[in-house]
Amino acid sequence: MNLTIQPLAKAHYAQLCELAVSEEQQQYVGTMEGLLACVSMDVHPHVICVNDQVIGFFLIDTFYGIKYDFALDNAIGLRGFFIDQRYQGQGYARATMVQFGTYLKSYYSHRENIYLTVNCRNPFARQSYLAGGFIDTGELYLGGAAGPQHVMKLSYA
Ligand SMILES: CC(C)(COP(=O)(O)OP(=O)(O)OC[C@H]1O[C@@H](n2cnc3c(N)ncnc32)[C@H](O)[C@@H]1OP(=O)(O)O)[C@@H](O)C(=O)NCCC(=O)NCCS
Repeated sequence: MNLTIQPLAKAHYAQLCELAVSEEQQQYVGTMEGLLACVSMDVHPHVICVNDQVIGFFLIDTFYGIKYDFALDNAIGLRGFFIDQRYQGQGYARATMVQFGTYLKSYYSHRENIYLTVNCRNPFARQSYLAGGFIDTGELYLGGAAGPQHVMKLSYA
């Protein structure tokens, strides 16, 4: 499997706009349009590719540690992680997570920790993160619109 993680670039954009999750899964990440609206100087878009096809997306929020009490001040955050519905169930989330720490080390080397929250009703996502070395901190984040979320953390330094 030739899976790569890359910062979003112009060459990805047309395929990126075709990505979606099912309606039922939108409660966890929203829509592609909504995610792109979150991009800013502080919130960076990244894509997951298999060969030359864009199959997934996520945001890195460099202000995460400032925004959330459960995170260390200097930590970054993972938001909006998804694999397009056509490509789910084929091991791509797990394969992304296997490379994730190394990827973060090359692009966010001045940071050491990344956090995320994952809905308690979303076990496949939690499984994928555990496969990448994330630990469940045992805390629950109750601020999400779709119900309680597990707080997970990866130290990648
Ligand atoms: C959660 C998500 C990223 C998983 O992506 P994926 O590429 O389908 O996941 P994988 O195929 O790598 O599987 C990951 C784990 O979930 C399990 N899994 C995934 N889909 C499954 C299904 N339909 N039935 C049973 N198990 C499933 C796999 O067996 C695997 O577990 P394992 O590591 O113990 O073997 C994807 O379903 C998704 O984008 N969901 C919508 C958005 C979302 O919820 N994002 C997370 C926000 S925190």
